[in-house]
Amino acid sequence: MDRRDFLHLITVSALSAAIGDLANPGLAAGFAQATPNAGFAPDIELELTMSPDQVPLLPGEPTHVWRFTGRVLKGPAATLETLPSSYLGPVIRLRRGQKVRIRFANRIPEDSIIHWHGLDVPELADGHPRLAIASGADYVYDFEVTNRAGTYWYHPHPHMRTGAQVYQGLAGILIVQDAEEDALGLPSGSAEQLCVLQDRVFDTQNQLVYVPAGRRGNMAMMTGFLGERMLINGRPQPTSEVDASWRRVRLLNASNARIYKLAWTRGLPMVIIGGDGGLLERAVRQQILTLAPGQRADVLLDLTGLSAGTEVSLESRAYPEVDANMGGMNAMMRGNSKVPNGAPLRLMTLRTRDRNGPAFRLPERLSTFDESWVVRPSKTRRVPLSFQRMEWLLGGRTFGDMNEVAAEETVAAGSTQVWEFANLSNRMGMQAAHPIHMHGRQFRVLSRSGANSNSLRSGIIDAGWTDTVLVLPGETVRVQVTFTKHPGLYLYHCHILEHEDMGMMRNFRVV
Ligand code: C2O
Ligand code: CU
Ligand code: CU
Repeated sequence: MDRRDFLHLITVSALSAAIGDLANPGLAAGFAQATPNAGFAPDIELELTMSPDQVPLLPGEPTHVWRFTGRVLKGPAATLETLPSSYLGPVIRLRRGQKVRIRFANRIPEDSIIHWHGLDVPELADGHPRLAIASGADYVYDFEVTNRAGTYWYHPHPHMRTGAQVYQGLAGILIVQDAEEDALGLPSGSAEQLCVLQDRVFDTQNQLVYVPAGRRGNMAMMTGFLGERMLINGRPQPTSEVDASWRRVRLLNASNARIYKLAWTRGLPMVIIGGDGGLLERAVRQQILTLAPGQRADVLLDLTGLSAGTEVSLESRAYPEVDANMGGMNAMMRGNSKVPNGAPLRLMTLRTRDRNGPAFRLPERLSTFDESWVVRPSKTRRVPLSFQRMEWLLGGRTFGDMNEVAAEETVAAGSTQVWEFANLSNRMGMQAAHPIHMHGRQFRVLSRSGANSNSLRSGIIDAGWTDTVLVLPGETVRVQVTFTKHPGLYLYHCHILEHEDMGMMRNFRVV
């Protein structure tokens, strides 16, 4: 850090600490949250516990994991769905407009906090690392579901331990439904399936292997941790028997660092109807779909007319490793994995049975976006993604003090800005594709420049609301974001979890 940056940091953090205390009276007192908000009357009340467990994943020894388990305290029992023989957390099904209270019990042997990825919630419900609670403690989340129907997810967000805790099994899907989506009559019930993509390394005793904690400069931390074996929905690759009809597949890339270049076998197209922030206005048909860590996609698959016993697989197609990770140094180190980014993978297989499902016609128009899609931004901010002194930087800085906010990271509630993520090359030749995630509101991708020859580029969909945008090496991506109306401290960061844990993360303060 040079002297000017240093002085700047001191001034800004002193200032933001002062503002923080004014804006959040009561926050200084250890964020005590044992008593729920008076006056909040939840429609749904859940209990979610993080605890150690063992799950039979591979033949032989069960695997020690950390996992979420849940209980419905108030509301329909179907609000939670436990996935059999999986370590993933229960699927949480909510409706837009519901008021939700979640009682989180931390029973793993370290600090943690839960973040609801993609949801626009009040500051104290967002899972900022400064809110992490100790092992044995509880935390109450109160929020109203204002998001559009779509596929969201939840995972821990403690300081420097997000990668390790997600890897250990702590993640789950959160589905929001609403009237606009109901009206489409999309495939549901047994014609709808989840597909959570994760890669892991197992030792000879079937136990999960991960990098040692918090080691800056560790090679696996710098490239991101890649597994050698795929798990789908927290289990080894399954083959499922399905009707020869239309299917809806909700995809989530919950891997720490792997980017997938998804395609169906038999030349079947990806019919993409939604992304991170819910339905697109119209379906997009293409052969390839690029899915980066943190991102979701809502995809339809047309199996009508296929004879019984036909197999269709979801694959990740080969791509040059440099498309995700380039530069002289990267080529030497290749991360930790025998299965680098870009290795071809078979993810899951569907086998048709001798039965047709209900008929379905894909509607011409899926959804209508609100005015914030076209609102005029008040200013543009350039945010370089760079690498210096063995660290990934976001906007030229790393995550240090929990409350620190730079002047250009202070934004007005409900205002609209363009943030321009510029993935710069550097003298060391270290460069990577970074999936940049913003907490709070879903945003719109305005444009991409550079990286035209990158083979992941054609699979990227910029047509809908998103909360995580992949910025390829050499690329500049401009996004338009209308900030949440909730005041407080929020985060933006790279969703390669090792980059996030190493400090490729920053606060922004909504005032
Ligand atoms: Cu999915 Cu700040 O994270
Ligand atoms: Cu998030
Ligand atoms: Cu990154």
